[in-house]
Amino acid sequence: MKVQLLSLKKACLNAIKEVETLRSLQEVEVKYIGRKGELTSILRGVKDLPDKQKPIIGKLSNKVKNELETAFKVKIVELETAELNKKLKDDNFDITVPGPDNNLGHIHPLSQVQRKVENIFGSMGFTVMDGPEVESEYYNFEGLNIPSWHPARDMQDTFFIKGKKDKKHGRMVLRTHTSPVQVRTMEKFGPPLRVIVPGRTFRYEATDASHDTTFYQVEGFMIDKDISIAHLKGVLAQFLSRLFEKDVKVRIRPGYFPFVEPGLEVDFSCLICGGKGCRVCKHTGWVEFMGAGMIHENVLKAGGIDPKKWQGWAFGFGLTRLVMMRHAIDDIRLLLGGDLRFINQF
Ligand code: PHE
Repeated sequence: MKVQLLSLKKACLNAIKEVETLRSLQEVEVKYIGRKGELTSILRGVKDLPDKQKPIIGKLSNKVKNELETAFKVKIVELETAELNKKLKDDNFDITVPGPDNNLGHIHPLSQVQRKVENIFGSMGFTVMDGPEVESEYYNFEGLNIPSWHPARDMQDTFFIKGKKDKKHGRMVLRTHTSPVQVRTMEKFGPPLRVIVPGRTFRYEATDASHDTTFYQVEGFMIDKDISIAHLKGVLAQFLSRLFEKDVKVRIRPGYFPFVEPGLEVDFSCLICGGKGCRVCKHTGWVEFMGAGMIHENVLKAGGIDPKKWQGWAFGFGLTRLVMMRHAIDDIRLLLGGDLRFINQF
């Protein structure tokens, strides 16, 4: 039986050597070591051997089986490699050609400035809040002291969402400013508050170089027991000076927004001429920046805050405009236009 095993091994190894395709290799495998193959039929005779011989032959047959299995594996790799090489040669495929570049993206200029704004205000103790872009009429208008009959509704052209009207909350709109998050935050957390709200806002507007239907704003507000416009001026001067990395002055003029009283317009000293007057600031030395004011007591009440105990200011500026100023971009449509030739410059 030992002789039988060894001659089977020899025959099988020879057959493996001669085989040229994976298919015929498989046939050889079935013939010699398959379930119904020669090795199996030899092993069937083991039970008739004298007891002494059994373990010796058993061990040997295992060894032969292992050796043959390894030989099959080696041959498979050999055949596959040969096949691949042949294919590569036939296809005229040049494996040395470098692959396409994996371009790494970068942060959009709007997000870059947004992060900077968040960091600066964050260091002054402001929390970053978020709110829904599809907002109710209530939070976008009524809660901000803009009742439906109020002429101030005309100031903002609004996208309305088709659908049901809720008694308290009215229709759904695409928020026209980030101010709705004021009342939402007051309701949720109560005073005192120091919050900024960067976010996307929408207005139904004809687009041109300085108007787009989608743009970004940053709301900011501070509510505590003894807050005045002096805090607003200080916080803004600090913010702008750190953002632009130079000394920036802030100027306040009267303005009107229904949700603040008194209402303010805030300008900052022109970055180009430093206030002397140039083309960018139309020779005034100042650049219009944002709306602000002391939060109207009706807004505090809507947020569940007692205006006799607490007061505060709020502001809202266009992040998109800030980015345009920072990079001297003269067309707002470029920012969300998705043209990589433009975006890759930042
Ligand atoms: N929400 C106003 C706007 O979008 C800006 C603003 C915010 C004004 C807060 C005053 C206070 O025009």
